[in-house]
Amino acid sequence: MLEALFNPSSIAVIGASQDPKKVGYAVLDNLKKYNFRGGLYPVNPAAGEILGLKAYPKLADIGKEVDLAVIAIPARFVPDALGECAAAGITSAVVLSAGFKEAGREGTLLEEQLKAISKERHIRILGPNCLGLINTANSMNATFAADMLPKGKIAFFSQSGAMGIAIMDWAIGNEIGFSKFISLGNKADLSELDFIEYFMNDPDTSLILGYIEDVVDGKRFMEVAQKATRAKPVILLKSGGTEAGARAASSHTGALAGSDVAFDAAFKQTGVMRAQGVQDLFDTALAFAEGKIPAGNGLLVITNAGGPGIIAADAAERLGVELPHMTRESIEAMAGKLPPNATVFNPVDVIGDATSARYAAVLEQAVKDPNVDGILVILTPQAMTDMETTAEVVIETSKRTNKPIITSFMGEARVRSAIRKLKDSSIPNFSYPELAVKSFKRLAQYRAWKDYKTEELPSCWYNFDAAAETVTSILKSGIYQVGEEEAMQLLTYYGFQFPERALARTSREAARIASRIGFPVVMKISSPDILHKTDVGGVRVNVKTQKEAEEAFTEITSNARRIMRDAFVKGVMVYEMVKGGKEVILGVTYDRTFGHMIMFGLGGIYVEVLKDVSFRIVPVARRDALAMVNELKTAGLLHGVRGERPADINAIASTIVNLSCLVSDFPEIRELDINPLVVKEKGAVALDARIIFKQPEEKR
Ligand SMILES: Nc1ncnc2c1ncn2[C@@H]1O[C@H](COP(=O)(O)OP(=O)(O)O)[C@@H](O)[C@H]1O
Ligand SMILES: [Mg+2]
Repeated sequence: MLEALFNPSSIAVIGASQDPKKVGYAVLDNLKKYNFRGGLYPVNPAAGEILGLKAYPKLADIGKEVDLAVIAIPARFVPDALGECAAAGITSAVVLSAGFKEAGREGTLLEEQLKAISKERHIRILGPNCLGLINTANSMNATFAADMLPKGKIAFFSQSGAMGIAIMDWAIGNEIGFSKFISLGNKADLSELDFIEYFMNDPDTSLILGYIEDVVDGKRFMEVAQKATRAKPVILLKSGGTEAGARAASSHTGALAGSDVAFDAAFKQTGVMRAQGVQDLFDTALAFAEGKIPAGNGLLVITNAGGPGIIAADAAERLGVELPHMTRESIEAMAGKLPPNATVFNPVDVIGDATSARYAAVLEQAVKDPNVDGILVILTPQAMTDMETTAEVVIETSKRTNKPIITSFMGEARVRSAIRKLKDSSIPNFSYPELAVKSFKRLAQYRAWKDYKTEELPSCWYNFDAAAETVTSILKSGIYQVGEEEAMQLLTYYGFQFPERALARTSREAARIASRIGFPVVMKISSPDILHKTDVGGVRVNVKTQKEAEEAFTEITSNARRIMRDAFVKGVMVYEMVKGGKEVILGVTYDRTFGHMIMFGLGGIYVEVLKDVSFRIVPVARRDALAMVNELKTAGLLHGVRGERPADINAIASTIVNLSCLVSDFPEIRELDINPLVVKEKGAVALDARIIFKQPEEKR
């Protein structure tokens, strides 16, 4: 679809200029200087010749077929120029001009015009307000940047031109090759999604990198990214903090959903690797640039110094990378070639006086060893160390194996030429062992992602018709926040379990219901106006006798009347008291980009302090539901500590999946809290629930 953009047979530069200070000069100069293979037509009303090329006063004067227009004229003229392009049959345009959305109201209106022209006249637009694009395969540098990228396998897009330039400089400085480079600009038409989709099938690209500040369409992102990551690694740097942070937080879940959790969740669910910063983006790119993905998570560390080996081991432990020992056969085979004081376990220490032969001996076994999935070679330049030959040994070994080999040749001056050699053979070298371990972790993670079977989205046990009736009747009454009574009714239709309960309108009735349910019971205020019941003294647990039940009724209702004078009190709900189990919180919140998200965390009163919660975008697959549980720092508490029986993790996963089904079926729901859900050894019971519906104007 984007063929004309990446592989045009001819380009018109509208606004080409003779003035070297102008964008219209720089871009034409780049196209010419870097030998774009195809027709080049400068368009300028005045000039007869620009950079030795014949210039045309108007697009229509060219008289030959043009595939791509590069536009560098003042913003206010761009809509007309695009119209002319469309009339000339051009299907793709790059708008370098600034002065659009980024420049205030007038610019925003101009940009709306661009969008309309793009749709109506079927012309795809990159930009506006962008740096342009590069395709190294056909030597097309349609940017006004100062350099050209070396050829390679990385495709990169950037929402920020400045970040794009920085990446370009890094790539040139480190001789990292790129296949494509895109400056997205304002994304009036083409966005990161179009390019991820294109790069996924681009034979020149094996790694997709990007810098984004937002995503234009969350739902489409989920679909596109999920497919792309199956084909090749996708690493994105997303700058955080958007306006989503300013959401109203009327539920626990809403309060806990910071502005960026949706992106974290979306990346996890789609297998996109999130770079934690520019350095991390570079490091990860470097790790993947060699193109080998390990079969598993086991890293063998070879070092000629103890300290760096320990640093690597610490990093491995922190990141969950395994450092397996080699098999007995391997250890025996290399024993004769290593001095007696060498350490043969992982990290393998070949000792400070190690020659390249010792490294070779270990590497030879490591590539054959079934326990080893990847190898980290650490070298410190000691007096006896033969840096360059060791680099050659690494390179030779790497040619013979599918296992990724990464290096950390530490230092600067003395290791420079060895690192040069490694670089020439695409062996990623990291200045510090911990960075190398981290990048191996990324490689292993990608392997794990590729190994996941794509999971059918679960179908749920539900009673849609009954639920729809409940939702309709709630919304008809003009109420947008409902408490336990209605929430429990709705949730029951999606398979949720609740304790036995009944409403008491008098203290006598409370006593009667309590003895029918069986003591002890829990009693709670029932009022559509009171959503946080404990706050108004509206909850009594462990009510043991009829007399206590009568007293509790009086106490709860008078507490409520005292604290919330205007609240309409229906009575007091009497509940079977649930004993044992672990209290967790389950919730739903709504993100502007991605839609509904499910939250899970350890419940109770500390939830907002500990903030130990996990999020996923709806729909949530069962695998993701289980990952949500295991991702908590406190997951161990659910798995059982000190002889405790484990909580029913499968039941939690089922409730998460059911909740995901509920909100998929009812987009009217904005937020929802189930706090607590009590998870037992077998099954889970919800003790409290609250739902907030979207106001009519919020619906979409
Ligand atoms: N049926 C029950 N069995 C046992 N404990 C309960 C029951 N219902 C509520 N609780 C306890 O009382 C606490 C407060 O009740 P809840 O209904 O969540 O009120 P609130 O509106 O204050 O959140 C719960 O967190 C839970 O620990
Ligand atoms: Mg509660």
